Amino acid sequence: MAETHDPVKLMKQAVGQAAAAQVKSNSVVGLGTGSTTAYALQALGERLKSGELTDIVGIPTSFQAQVLARDYGIPLTGLDAVDRIDVAIDGADEVDPQKNLIKGGGAAHTQEKIVDSLAERFIVVVDSGKLVDKLGSTFLLPVEVVPMALHPVLRAITKLGGKPELRMGVRKAGPVVTDQGNLVIDVKFDAIDNPAELEKTLNNIPGVLENGLFVGVADQVLVGEIVDGQPKVREF
Ligand code: 5RP
Repeated sequence: MAETHDPVKLMKQAVGQAAAAQVKSNSVVGLGTGSTTAYALQALGERLKSGELTDIVGIPTSFQAQVLARDYGIPLTGLDAVDRIDVAIDGADEVDPQKNLIKGGGAAHTQEKIVDSLAERFIVVVDSGKLVDKLGSTFLLPVEVVPMALHPVLRAITKLGGKPELRMGVRKAGPVVTDQGNLVIDVKFDAIDNPAELEKTLNNIPGVLENGLFVGVADQVLVGEIVDGQPKVREF
């Protein structure tokens, strides 16, 4: 990736590299999705190339992660071929003080939740702008929906007090289509007071595949920030 002076990119790069530095040889690694994780994948590739890290295999959480892993020379496998994931590295859109997350900014939260939840250790990598007191404060909650159920799900979410909107493509006519061929609804809730309950309630609506609330899944949150003009990483 090209050199950058953008402070947000510098925070993402620093935290991505810090997470990649924690990966040990002979391990199975869950490879998250998004621009922060992309820096971690790049750093993993560099460690493999230098010989400092050996014998890792990655489980990708999206088509994007698959493509990046191939570009950076990270061997890939699938959940049918391994009986454990040692560590997963993934980004988030919001992190609350209990380390609960909103994910799905890249519409990849279904595969991300499968892989991140299975990992012995799930390391979240975020820049400091992602920290919130309460989930839902800055980011809409993504919900993946089977296309034929779109309208009933929109009605059910409205009944729950949410304001849903179908995520539309950018430089593509029509809606965003996930790696599973589904749609994404982004939902504004006035307050998410009980993320664990809302996660279950949403997933109980017929036609909902998965929502972006990750409750009790994160083991470690690394936060990239700028201190005295320099990118630094701290543990949350
Ligand atoms: C994708 C995700 C991403 O991890 C999340 O959107 C954070 O992305 P970025 O690191 O680009 O800010 O959940 O579905």
